[in-house]
Amino acid sequence: MSFPSLTRKLWGTEFVSPVMLASGTSGFGEELFKLGCLTGAGAVVSKAVTLKPRSGNPPPRLLETPFGLLNSIGLANPGAQHVLEHILPAVSNLPCPLVINVAGESVQEFADVISVLKESAVHIGYEINVSCPNVAEGGAAFGVDPEVVFRVSEAVSQVADRPFSVKLTPNGGDMVQAAVAAQKGGASAVTVCNTFLGMKIDWKTGKSVIKRKVAGYTSPALLPLVVARVWQVSNAVSVPVISSGGVSCGQDVLQLLAAGAEMVQVGTRLMRRPCAAGELLDEMKKLTGEQ
Ligand code: SIN
Repeated sequence: MSFPSLTRKLWGTEFVSPVMLASGTSGFGEELFKLGCLTGAGAVVSKAVTLKPRSGNPPPRLLETPFGLLNSIGLANPGAQHVLEHILPAVSNLPCPLVINVAGESVQEFADVISVLKESAVHIGYEINVSCPNVAEGGAAFGVDPEVVFRVSEAVSQVADRPFSVKLTPNGGDMVQAAVAAQKGGASAVTVCNTFLGMKIDWKTGKSVIKRKVAGYTSPALLPLVVARVWQVSNAVSVPVISSGGVSCGQDVLQLLAAGAEMVQVGTRLMRRPCAAGELLDEMKKLTGEQ
């Protein structure tokens, strides 16, 4: 069998690698760039940006578990205007493309954030986050309802002058239907998928260790769940599928490409291996024989 090329083309842009750094795991890329850790990264996806600044959820909001990470950050960010004026100019020299993750509490907010950010030429596109489990009570995300996914995608496509991917939720609803709705609404890709709902309870107190109770869980153990969803979604839509979740080695990235992903995001692994993008690319080159 012939392996997919490790240099990728998406949205008319060339990427040196299929590996993207997942939203929330490397800010806007500046720190990893200074550490020399963006070598081998196809693209950076930024932390989520909302219209107004958000301080996020009260701590504890991050917890390492034996096999992964629980996060309940709550979309902490300085707001779209600050990102436009202060952060994007500072990352205009990243060695790889930047995609901005956009979040909102209403259909209109997604469009409003993009109206602000479109003034910048620094980023190549957006990832529309309809799937954060850490905002609504009980972890329910916007994106469980395909009709809402359609409306958000439609509103974004009316204002965005750049391509966008819609990041879907694995927590309830039918992800395939949500992906079809995103495509119908004008999305140029779908990201499969956001974190899985998780929780840790201290049995001595009976209370959740994470202040806001349920959180988003990420782990290499989720790989088969993500592979199945990428495979299902990529068989149902014609837009590119970007996978997110479960990656810990080059074989995992190759497996996700074989399942139908065009690009593969890595996230939690960066907490231990900040230069994971280059390491994964080197591993894949050895495995496939590509130079
Ligand atoms: C967060 O900020 O709570 C995580 C964002 C997300 O999972 O979409």
